[in-house]
Amino acid sequence: MSAPRLELPESHPAGTDEVGTAMRAIYNWSYEPEIDALRTLYANALERQWIAVRDLDWQRGVDREAFSETFSLGGLPVAKTQFWKSLPADTRWEVARRSACFLLSNFLHGEQGALMVAGQLVGAVPHMDGKFYAATQTLDEARHVEAFAAYVRLLDDVTEISPGLKRLLDNVLAAEDWRFKCVGMQVVAEGLALYAFRDMRNQTREPLLQQLLTYVARDEARHTGYGIKYLSAVVPELSAAERGALEDFAFESARLLIDSRAGLSLRDQVLGIWKSAGVDPIDAMTKLAGERDVVAAALQQSGGRLGPVSGFVIPTLRAIGLYSDRIRGHFAEMFEANIATSRAGELASAGADLPEDLEAWVNEGYEAL
Ligand SMILES: [Fe+2]
Ligand SMILES: [Fe+2]
Repeated sequence: MSAPRLELPESHPAGTDEVGTAMRAIYNWSYEPEIDALRTLYANALERQWIAVRDLDWQRGVDREAFSETFSLGGLPVAKTQFWKSLPADTRWEVARRSACFLLSNFLHGEQGALMVAGQLVGAVPHMDGKFYAATQTLDEARHVEAFAAYVRLLDDVTEISPGLKRLLDNVLAAEDWRFKCVGMQVVAEGLALYAFRDMRNQTREPLLQQLLTYVARDEARHTGYGIKYLSAVVPELSAAERGALEDFAFESARLLIDSRAGLSLRDQVLGIWKSAGVDPIDAMTKLAGERDVVAAALQQSGGRLGPVSGFVIPTLRAIGLYSDRIRGHFAEMFEANIATSRAGELASAGADLPEDLEAWVNEGYEAL
């Protein structure tokens, strides 16, 4: 095994970037509440505002040891394996720091996208309740950008956005119809983010990161709830063709983040990072194959990298009425190509229930934070 290399990542994103949008802004001259569920969500959001610099304990900094046990090999949780424990402490820290920087940088970039989309939704959605709520989400997302940027700064420089995530954000920002923005961002991207933040929070022993992810995920629970409640109210009124187009957009959004066939997935990039930190992914995979039971037990907990899709995004789409047999076939085919097991069809058909109260689901075991 080669010695860990300590230089900083080669890529440092700089400057700005742009995408053209052609959104239709809608006035609503009726100021009466129309969708009660959204009005309630807006009232909750006002009650639950927090301030990143005041409410998180930045003084304590990053606990290196706890941090090194947090990060997994591209969705493969390895912290309990002998392979991981056999690596020198410096290598573990380097691998953890670089993988985390990459993942958290992408969370950060995703938050910037969410910030801009939430701002668009204020203008794009037709109901006043939807506009009020989107205004609170815009502030939430600004706070998330602020908090993730501050945490990444404690580890290293921000790395570039993953191409799949960039394409997803571009697609959502450029979409003209608010329902596409809502399904792509609020349902798929927010759903995957909520699941990933909660999962990372449950895995990590690093106190500041636990606190940050819990605070952010509480907000994301509302953001996903908005997508579910709003679309559930309007999808029944759509024609079959309109519903099909929304389903396709939802599937494409998930595909851009999950499917490794286009070489875009976060997982492939994380494997490259392991290599840059001095751990050969092929050697690591071979050694980990000998500890299959330990990895399988940990995977059972997290559901692996497709867990967020089968355990959260699919049940969400089903609840909204955007999961026809046709689109289930697309998910099954993608799962099959990515996990190569006979469970692909089963995963695409899985009937996992959505947690009834998303905020309570986020808080499970961490109520005191
Ligand atoms: Fe966010
Ligand atoms: Fe969000």
